[in-house]
Amino acid sequence: MNQFHTEEVMHVESVLLKVKDKRAMLKFYKDAFGFEILKEEDNIFHLGPKEGKILVSLLEDINSTLSFDNKPLYHFALLLPSRQDLADFIRNYIKTRYPYVGASDHSVSEAIYIEDVEGNGIEIYVDRPSFLWKFNNGSVYMDTRPLDIHSLIKMGKEEYKGVPKDTIMGHLHLHINNMVEAEAFFVDALGFKKLLKYGNSALFVCDFSYHHHIAFNTWAKSNKEEGHNKSGLYAYTLNVPNKDKEAFIERLMNKGIVTKKEGNKTFIHDVNGTIIYLKNVD
Ligand SMILES: [Fe+2]
Repeated sequence: MNQFHTEEVMHVESVLLKVKDKRAMLKFYKDAFGFEILKEEDNIFHLGPKEGKILVSLLEDINSTLSFDNKPLYHFALLLPSRQDLADFIRNYIKTRYPYVGASDHSVSEAIYIEDVEGNGIEIYVDRPSFLWKFNNGSVYMDTRPLDIHSLIKMGKEEYKGVPKDTIMGHLHLHINNMVEAEAFFVDALGFKKLLKYGNSALFVCDFSYHHHIAFNTWAKSNKEEGHNKSGLYAYTLNVPNKDKEAFIERLMNKGIVTKKEGNKTFIHDVNGTIIYLKNVD
């Protein structure tokens, strides 16, 4: 575990996707990442690497409609421990022939972008050491250059056993409809710090000087309409550090955000109406 995703740092730990075809999705996550079913409850399958953390959970709803646009998820991002792991992943993924979206060198990180078989965006990335990240006036330097994918493919091992058990959720990138509303929610209410702004269309926020724990943009619409039973991002779990819990709750109350209960889980809704399960909050 790196210093940016410990229990002491506010960050997204896992995502819950509503899925139409459970079997196809289980196969995709097995083939691409080697994910296994780590836990099963009600109609939810919790997936992750063997002996690792739950990273992606699938809630089956065969009546949902596949959502390829107007959706809250831009991508969730799985952070691998090393460049070798990214190389191994890419080498195997090419063989699977599943959807590929792109690849970028962001200076702070090297990333490839894919989609699962129901159109959920996924980034798989590896960070460069944090002492190499450039900060200027409280902003982190990130760019988008071509990834040196050829060296990674060459580096990748032929045998693939899935991503390592210490793979984690590195960040979450959302589509939102209104920047002012989203900034008020993620920064003023939840307490993330602003780190990088792309004009008025995207904002990267973090806790503890990570390059970003959450990003949101207006590059595509996010459908908030009621009554649309769409597949896709249904919920995500936010680790709220114990030491910040009281201040966190106070900020929510000041903003008029009401916490709700589902069994032993406490949750709120984000600006898209997506559920955020609050870890450590009763
Ligand atoms: Fe990302």
